[in-house]
Amino acid sequence: MTPTALPVEELAQRTEDEVREHLAAGKLVEGLQHMSPEYLSGIRRILTVSADTELISAPAYLRAAQHAPALNNLGSAVSILQDELAHAHIGYRLLGDLGVDMNRLIYEREPAAFKYPYAFDVPLDSWHELVLANALYDQAGFVLLSDVHESSTFGPWKRALAKVDKEETFHLRHGRTWVKKLAASPEEKARLQASLDWMFILTLEWFGLPDAQKRHGIQLEYGFKGMSNDELRQAWMAAVVPFIDEVGLHVPAHWDDGAGRYVIDCPFPARFDEEAKRWLLDEGEIGWDEVMTRWKARGPMNEDYVARLQKGYRGRLAA
Ligand SMILES: [Fe+2]
Ligand SMILES: [Fe+2]
Repeated sequence: MTPTALPVEELAQRTEDEVREHLAAGKLVEGLQHMSPEYLSGIRRILTVSADTELISAPAYLRAAQHAPALNNLGSAVSILQDELAHAHIGYRLLGDLGVDMNRLIYEREPAAFKYPYAFDVPLDSWHELVLANALYDQAGFVLLSDVHESSTFGPWKRALAKVDKEETFHLRHGRTWVKKLAASPEEKARLQASLDWMFILTLEWFGLPDAQKRHGIQLEYGFKGMSNDELRQAWMAAVVPFIDEVGLHVPAHWDDGAGRYVIDCPFPARFDEEAKRWLLDEGEIGWDEVMTRWKARGPMNEDYVARLQKGYRGRLAA
C-alpha cells in the first residue's frame, strides 16, 4: 500500500481461510477484526474508487451548474452536489477506520493518483451536459452501487448505501426530467444529441475491460461486487437505452433479441479526441491497452478539479 495508509499485514487480524469461513457462514465483515490482508487491500481499493468518484463529481457538476437556466435550477444542481460530497465523506470515513490517513488521501495526493473514471476528466460545459451526466453518469454510479449494496460483505458500507441509493434516485430523476423537457424542443434536442454522442460512449467505457480480458477473482469471491464488468455494462444499457429511445434521441446501441442482450453498434472501444470531445469512430476499434493508456494519463480537467478540492487545505498549511 502507499505511505498514505498503514500496512495491511499489520492491521488485518484474520487469515484468508478464516475470512472465507466467515463469509461461507453468511456473516458480514464488520471491521479489521474480521479482515485478512487481501480483504483489507481489496476493500480499500474499491472504497477509494467510489469515494474519489463521488468527490470529483462535485467540481465537475459545479462547473456545469453555472449554466443553470434559472436560480431555482442552480439550487437543484447544488443540492445534488452536496449529496455527492456527503457520499464521498462516507467512503473516506470508512477508509479512515481501515488505517488510511484521510487528510493525506484527499488533500495531499497527486491528481493523477485519484481513481475515478476517466469520464469525469472531460469537462461538462453546459446545462445540457449536466443533466445528461445526471442521466448517464449517475445511472452508472447507481448500477455500480446497487450491486455493492446487494453483494457487499462489508457491513458498514452495505448499510450506508441504503441512504446513498435514495439520493442517487433523485439525481437520476433530475437528469431524466430535464432531458425529456429539453428533447421536446427541436433546437435543444440537437444540442442534447451532440453531447450525448460523446457522453454515451464514454459511459460505456466506465465499466472497464470486457470479462474476456479481465479476471475478477477476489472481487467476486470476497463479495466486493456481485456482477462482472460486462453484466454491469448491460444493466446500465438496460436502464439508459430505452429511455433515450423514448425521448427520441439516438445512441449506438440496441437490444438484440437473438443474442438476448444489448449490442453496441459502433467501434468499441474507440479513440477519443478529448479536446474536441469527439470519438474518432472512422479509425475503427482499438485495443483496451490504448484505452488504459489514455485513462492513466488522465484527461483535461484532472489537475484543475483536484486543485479546487485541495485548495483550502493547502492554503491552511501555508498559513
Ligand atoms: Fe453520489
Ligand atoms: Fe449522484
